[in-house]
Amino acid sequence: MPSKRTIPNILQQKFQELPTPSLFKSIAINGLILFVFYDFFFHCDNRPLDLSLPFIKSSGCDNSSNSPPTDLSHIGFIVISSLKTWKHRRAYTESWWRPNVTRGYVFLDKEPTQQFLPWPSTFPQYQINYDITKLRAYPKIVSQVQVRMVHSILDMYRVGDKSLRWFIMCDDDTLFFVDNLVEVLQKYDHTKYIYVGGNSESIKSNARYSFDMGFGGAGYALSYPLAEALSKNLDDCIERYHYLYVSDHMAQSCLADIGVSLNLEKGIHQIDLHSDISGLLSSHPQSPLLSLHHFDAIDPLFPSKDRYESIQHLMKAAKFDQSRMLQQTICYQRETNWSFSVSWGYSTHIYESIIPRSILRKPLETFRPWDRISRPPHFMFNTRRLTNNSCETPHVFFFNSVEYTPDNQVLTTYVRSSPRNLPHCSATGSHSADPISRIQVFSPSGKRKKYEVIECCDVEYEVETNVAGVKMRSCMKDEVIA
Ligand SMILES: *[C@@H]1O[C@H](CO)[C@@H](O)[C@H](O)[C@H]1NC(C)=O
Ligand SMILES: *[C@@H]1O[C@H](CO)[C@@H](O)[C@H](O)[C@H]1NC(C)=O
Ligand SMILES: *[C@@H]1O[C@H](CO)[C@@H](O)[C@H](O)[C@H]1NC(C)=O
Ligand SMILES: *[C@@H]1O[C@H](CO)[C@@H](O)[C@H](O)[C@H]1NC(C)=O
Repeated sequence: MPSKRTIPNILQQKFQELPTPSLFKSIAINGLILFVFYDFFFHCDNRPLDLSLPFIKSSGCDNSSNSPPTDLSHIGFIVISSLKTWKHRRAYTESWWRPNVTRGYVFLDKEPTQQFLPWPSTFPQYQINYDITKLRAYPKIVSQVQVRMVHSILDMYRVGDKSLRWFIMCDDDTLFFVDNLVEVLQKYDHTKYIYVGGNSESIKSNARYSFDMGFGGAGYALSYPLAEALSKNLDDCIERYHYLYVSDHMAQSCLADIGVSLNLEKGIHQIDLHSDISGLLSSHPQSPLLSLHHFDAIDPLFPSKDRYESIQHLMKAAKFDQSRMLQQTICYQRETNWSFSVSWGYSTHIYESIIPRSILRKPLETFRPWDRISRPPHFMFNTRRLTNNSCETPHVFFFNSVEYTPDNQVLTTYVRSSPRNLPHCSATGSHSADPISRIQVFSPSGKRKKYEVIECCDVEYEVETNVAGVKMRSCMKDEVIA
């Protein structure tokens, strides 16, 4: 909890000594002195005079740097599930969960029946949610399921693990990249009130609930002090917002009343989209991938695999290097006028023309909007529409395998999923990429790509062969990709 604002004794005494007529003037002057005093001496040390708001983002001079950096053991996951959905979604949770390493629980509506027992040690242990029929506000509640979900924060708090620094809310169909999550949470001061999450891709969804809301399927983080403040106020807050029918919206409303707003992170993905999301995943910003969601609402991530196999396959690349997962790197083969766009661990595209990064970073609109009846604009980002123009349509290669090379690099290989079935782009010469069947991408191993540092690459291709190579490297100073 934040400590109360206190005025140092000396200043209080000064106030008392002042004659009444000049009181207002003195308040103004003292206020100014106090402000200057605070600004000069206490900006980096808020203990003696705690005027700093507890939820301001870490400024680099906070006290949390005295404690060891946040690691996985400081993060408590709250996986919201139910017996009905756990049955087929547990495989999604299992694919990122690290037994005996990641911490947290699956929260269920009921005691597991025989078919779930014995409970495997490869899953998070379970907790049964509080019986919300006991809440004073229960008769007024509009959605019991959603209140049970939001109540999981309090249920987790009651488990009583004070060594945690963060609570992460998520669904049973959320996929996490936990090493990246640790890196991103390290940026924030966990001793303050911090709320980190992501918007929906759908403008309509954000507008309907709140642009200041972390979508729970994508996962959102609450610093422990914030989770504590929320827990202490939750039952009253549920009563206040009994008419809300989405748990994340209820949580966001309660947090807003505490005075907290959302810190957006680019790597958190709600995936409020339908069909083929490969266009989105192939233009991921160079920001750590944190989560993916809604696998049952979209096509399998890889064309020749089912949903579950696709996730297993993606996680193979993640085991070698989470820091580069999906991140888009662009380079050119000038001899043939080709552009290469790599989405590390997922896909590689070749365009038979030179297209600047400003264009290629916009996702190809391979997907459909979440809300089928609404009018455009649908998405929170710009897209490129699909065309049959040979110069704008990529040859698409999907992640196939990953290995270490003898000289200690990571080699990911991408293979063509289907022929492009278009003539070559004549505008930039007669260099068809049809013969290319495989792309090999080399990246450094053993160290994570630094947070939000942009990488560049070089193409290695011998004309007339069917394999192209791409080497990741640091960008040169002021390097322009166009
Ligand atoms: C900073 O943290 C240390 C260790 O956690 C604690 O002993 C100290 O009192 C804190 N100082 C301030 C000014 O908050
Ligand atoms: C986790 O730890 C427990 C107790 O130490 C052990 O019995 C169990 O096999 C471990 N599970 C895994 C998957 O390593
Ligand atoms: C491209 O051409 C194919 C075959 O003629 C057609 O079915 C498809 O709708 C076209 N796509 C676009 C985006 O124009
Ligand atoms: C590359 O494309 C440009 C037109 O954009 C063209 O003038 C040039 O000849 C092409 N280069 C090759 C090697 O084909």
